[in-house]
Amino acid sequence: MVSFTINGKPTTVEADPATPILWVVREKLGMTGTKFGCGIAQCGACTVHLDGQPIRSCSTPVSEAEGKAITTIEGIAGPDGELSRIQQAWISEQVPQCGYCQSGQIMAATALLRDIPRPTDEQIDAAMSGNICRCGTYVRIRRAIKVAAGIEPTSTEEAA
Ligand code: FES
Ligand code: FES
Repeated sequence: MVSFTINGKPTTVEADPATPILWVVREKLGMTGTKFGCGIAQCGACTVHLDGQPIRSCSTPVSEAEGKAITTIEGIAGPDGELSRIQQAWISEQVPQCGYCQSGQIMAATALLRDIPRPTDEQIDAAMSGNICRCGTYVRIRRAIKVAAGIEPTSTEEAA
């Protein structure tokens, strides 16, 4: 048994302690917004927050969540379901293409703007460089982060 909160809700699951958080979230808790990409901590598709820090849930055992708080893409909207600033910017800037990587991208960007409300380009790059997008939506991701942060995008980040 492992106990933690997920998206603010106290939860106990019966699971082998070595089970990756990703599979507990998807298969035991039915939250399928978090995606499986590489399974080896290389792509970021599976990014969730553990006590506020972005982690690779595909390669973090659920035992590490004992007594902690997991936040998934299902948990970042407000209490009445209003979308977060980042979610709104992702929509207004039409960021996703296939969409597969985007939960992880949004979770990484959410942690970035919580810690650094007006990040520099270098800080955006540092925070987002581990999240791979096979569709190449990087310019729109950067633009949406800036829109969410209230930063004017540069001319090369104009909307497509
Ligand atoms: S699926 Fe976890 S980093 Fe790729
Ligand atoms: S939108 Fe397709 S992998 Fe990123």
